[in-house]
Amino acid sequence: MTDDSKRPPGRHRRPLLAAAAVLLATGAAIAVPHLADAATTLQSLAAAKGKTVGFALTSSYLSEAAYKNIADTEFNLVVAENAMKWSETEPSRNSFTYTAGDAVANYAASSGKQLYGHALVWHQQYPGWVDGISSGTDLLAAMKNHIANVAGHYAGKVVAWDVVNEAFEDNGSRRQSIFQQRIGNSYIEEAFKAARAADPAAKLCINDYSTDGINAKSTAILNLVQDFKARGVPIDCVGFQAHLILGQVPSDLQANLQRFANLGVDVRITELDVRMTTPSDASKLATQKSDFQKVFTACANVTRCTGVTVWGITDRYSWVPEVFSGYGAALIWDDNYNRKPAYDGAAAGFGGTTTTPTPTTPTPTTPGPTTPGPTTPGPTTPAPGGGCAVGYTVNQWNTGFTATVNVKNTSGTAINGWTLAWSYSAGQTVTQSWSATVTQSGSAVTAANAAWNAALPAGGSTSFGFNGSHSGSNPAPAAFSLNGTACTVA
Ligand code: XIL
Repeated sequence: MTDDSKRPPGRHRRPLLAAAAVLLATGAAIAVPHLADAATTLQSLAAAKGKTVGFALTSSYLSEAAYKNIADTEFNLVVAENAMKWSETEPSRNSFTYTAGDAVANYAASSGKQLYGHALVWHQQYPGWVDGISSGTDLLAAMKNHIANVAGHYAGKVVAWDVVNEAFEDNGSRRQSIFQQRIGNSYIEEAFKAARAADPAAKLCINDYSTDGINAKSTAILNLVQDFKARGVPIDCVGFQAHLILGQVPSDLQANLQRFANLGVDVRITELDVRMTTPSDASKLATQKSDFQKVFTACANVTRCTGVTVWGITDRYSWVPEVFSGYGAALIWDDNYNRKPAYDGAAAGFGGTTTTPTPTTPTPTTPGPTTPGPTTPGPTTPAPGGGCAVGYTVNQWNTGFTATVNVKNTSGTAINGWTLAWSYSAGQTVTQSWSATVTQSGSAVTAANAAWNAALPAGGSTSFGFNGSHSGSNPAPAAFSLNGTACTVA
């Protein structure tokens, strides 16, 4: 219900590279986000909790600056969206190709990210020759050989493997895959033993969808973990894909993760996306923000949750529209690499603070439409203890721009809750913001903090950004004020 039970059979489906190529060929202007403040990236929030935040990578997209910039800065774990699957790594029997998988592994190594292996045994995206194997003994030998080679090739590089993917039906029975039918119940433990032998250091996980809440399917996996633990079959972790539908995060997600953790295995959200009917609108995006926050919060609250992986960076390349007709907009960045509200939800879930900031000066922190604020602060007298410095940089094209604003508290007093105000002199219009709520009334613009960056200690700084449009002229604002106090402009 909350998941991809509608997914059409498609074990030979290939990555959606054709659509990507078409979009790239159009040469459409893409806003290139600036480097986020190191203190407020998703990966820095995750690292502060001893966790990782990962993304599914298709390496060819790294040639796009916007994609690579987000990949480089926001994540500290990477998983191959397709490149390490059986169809990609062993297209003909006992003939292994690692070019695409190695591209992902090399990116992980060169960018200092953890590498997560996906997936050794799955009823989709396996090569056609497997279907030609009729004997259980032979299929078991082929499966073990596949695992020995692929897990052996990446030994020492991956932190974990999805050893078996999607082995259960929603009612908790075994999925009648070719492996189940030919080899029988033992195929899962045989796969885990083969993976342990090939890479003793990798954590070995079982992964599935529609298992995010407590239900027959997740309970079947719980029973398998208990059974494996009791019999000494290696298993270290359980992955919860979390391909979710808008507004349908199971209320018992955290309790479900915890009941697995209580058995002594790690847990992870492995393929998060939250799909909505398209087109998106502000209300759906707000619900999606809340959904991302719920998922990240559940992981934050479970010590053995190693982190959250999102199934892609940008809605532009998400698998969702191809598979779930009428649905899309499931990821954190939109088609043009603009951050969606989901970013703030994810950050809040890992940031540990969701409290509404309280203003420390007369300027309200939640600007209403009638609160333009001091639009031309000029050389006003700083408030006692006040002081701020603003850096404002833009990346612009003919009629649009992306701005990154760095705000530094140069006073000796901590700020909890801030509003930055400035004025545009050439009719520029703000269209979409991230890491702050930006509102505009005529030429007057105010940016109010997000929940997770409300606190600016003495000497502390944060960044936010937004997209805007202009009509050919886009001068930088001459002055800024923070909570009513004039700032120096860097
Ligand atoms: C998807 C990829 O995102 C697509 O590019 C591909 O065409 C099909 O597979 N569960 C999984 C993932 O475990 O491997 C799937 O990835 C999504 C569902």
